[in-house]
Amino acid sequence: MEVVGKKDLLPEAPKHIAIIMDGNGRWAGKRAMSRLKGHEQGAKAVREVIKGCRELGIPYLTLFAFSSENWRRPKEEVNHLMGLFKFFFNKEINELVDAGVKVDFIGNISKLPDDVQKLSKELVERTSHNSALTLTIALSYGGRAEIVESAVRLAEDIASGKVSAADLSEGSFEGYLETKDIPDPDMIIRTSGEKRLSNFLLWQSAYSELIFQDVLWPDYTRNDLQDAINEFYSRNRRYGAVSG
Ligand code: FPP
Repeated sequence: MEVVGKKDLLPEAPKHIAIIMDGNGRWAGKRAMSRLKGHEQGAKAVREVIKGCRELGIPYLTLFAFSSENWRRPKEEVNHLMGLFKFFFNKEINELVDAGVKVDFIGNISKLPDDVQKLSKELVERTSHNSALTLTIALSYGGRAEIVESAVRLAEDIASGKVSAADLSEGSFEGYLETKDIPDPDMIIRTSGEKRLSNFLLWQSAYSELIFQDVLWPDYTRNDLQDAINEFYSRNRRYGAVSG
């Protein structure tokens, strides 16, 4: 494997990597373990990619941790995942603060249990002065809902006369999205061999390179992250124009 490290970052180095972490259940099933164990192991892989991004100097990482559709899973699994988020945030908070990671959340956080909400807010506040890596965690997130909610906020601003419909542009609409403060992802990774976006960052993914890896999420390592980045480098990014 040819390794592209921080020192030889090309001009088009990915600034923002987004990941659909898939395959926790299958990882557990292959080992005759409960799905819950797969999620626990998945949390370890989350640590790996955060460290990997810090080492490589990637400034933005977004993780799809829980989708708006995931609420339909069995209650036991949903509760376990909520407990796991709480455990992870509690355990990692000091290390994230020290590692220069700024944490943010996108999604319908108000649907989460009170204790997870409280801890999420604490994580955001305590890391708000950091800037080495912005880690955005999508929790109870759905891309279509985000777009609709943005349109509602925009409609309110038009109704109150704050903005004029005639002045609307893609750029100004982006200011209503939850991701308004971060760049669009250069690449979106999905693990476990599935090849779908599953309602993740629908607006923001317009020009993202989509990278599908067969590895199940709990097995994901920094080497797999490096492979994905190498794949990104191997693609020719033209934004619809002719390459020069
Ligand atoms: C998809 O695998 C994974 C999830 C729905 C949950 C992702 C959560 C974690 C990785 C836990 C820790 C996260 C953080 C941010 C601490 P799946 O259950 O759909 O797997 P399957 O498709 O094999 O059934």
